[in-house]
Amino acid sequence: MSLADQFRNHFGHRDHLYGVMLAELADDLDAGGVTATIVASKHDATRADAIQLRLLAGIYRLVLRGGEPELAAFYPTLGGTRGPAEIWPVLRPVLANHLLELQAAIEHPPQTNEVGRSALLAIGLFEAARRHDLPRIRLLEPGASAGLNLNAAHYRVTGPDWAWGPVDSPLVLDTEAAGVHPVSVEIVEHRGCDIAPIDVTQPDAAAYLRSFVWPFDLPRDRRLQAALVVAQRHPPRVDRESASRWLARQLTAAPDGVLTVVWQSITAQYWPAQESARVREIVADARSRMPLAHLTMEGVPPAQLTGGYDVLAHGPRTELDGQVIARSHHHGPPVVLATA
Ligand SMILES: C[S@@+](CC[C@H](N)C(=O)[O-])C[C@H]1O[C@@H](n2cnc3c(N)ncnc32)[C@H](O)[C@@H]1O
Repeated sequence: MSLADQFRNHFGHRDHLYGVMLAELADDLDAGGVTATIVASKHDATRADAIQLRLLAGIYRLVLRGGEPELAAFYPTLGGTRGPAEIWPVLRPVLANHLLELQAAIEHPPQTNEVGRSALLAIGLFEAARRHDLPRIRLLEPGASAGLNLNAAHYRVTGPDWAWGPVDSPLVLDTEAAGVHPVSVEIVEHRGCDIAPIDVTQPDAAAYLRSFVWPFDLPRDRRLQAALVVAQRHPPRVDRESASRWLARQLTAAPDGVLTVVWQSITAQYWPAQESARVREIVADARSRMPLAHLTMEGVPPAQLTGGYDVLAHGPRTELDGQVIARSHHHGPPVVLATA
């Protein structure tokens, strides 16, 4: 499939801002316009490279910086109210004025960190603490991105008949999960790793993370911004390392009286072959030395991951030591419990 068709087919409609933008960019690419100049080095890119998402994020970052007010008028997250149909005459000169920056932007693979998943993490922590009768938890997260889910204990998570976390948290995750019984867990240590960690203490980190969220998905953008406020007070620690290498070191020993929880969400599909199997081996080996729970929220069980499947079609499920404890929409809440 040509790059222009990858752009055009990504949404395949003009019903929202990004549908229109990708249709216009695809036509411009076919016509040899400014878009063709921006993506000139990427004609061999595959669908998995998602060049179109890289470019949309690069454009969004220009808008987030505040220098393109006319274009910002199309971005709902920035208060924009203009319908997308007329965007091209405004967008085209912005592309032409920022060629080098956009060429650099398409070198960055999409990078997200969805804090809605902390609701699933919280439910899993309750269940793990109950099963092990150990409420003091050391939380380890491979594939943590910016590590925003490591701050789960600073978020308020609620269901129809329960609530957990500080009442004054800037981030409240409302779920549909009924019958959850929170346990007063204490996270005594938390740490993550990622092959491309984002350091939230860096000035551009917030805009970088926001730029990969659809600018018309207001709830998701608000969740992220609230989590970033929390992260300024509690910067997560995320080491630059691959999942299996990092876990092997983290799981050599554990403090007494503490339950180690290895948590991972929507990351194993990006891991190279053998990484999931290696992580399972390391976790299994560590169980003989320490109380340990393995909590996963992946599209399909990590054991079956071979790559190239559609997470959305499968619907992520949260598993504790291989047993499904919750199902959810892709980004996290609302949560629908399948089993307890
Ligand atoms: C879709 S993001 C999910 C991030 C976070 N777990 C969440 O749920 O918001 C996938 C993350 O996996 C990371 N990743 C990919 N391969 C990895 C590997 N081999 N080891 C560790 N992290 C990896 C990526 O850099 C990216 O930050």
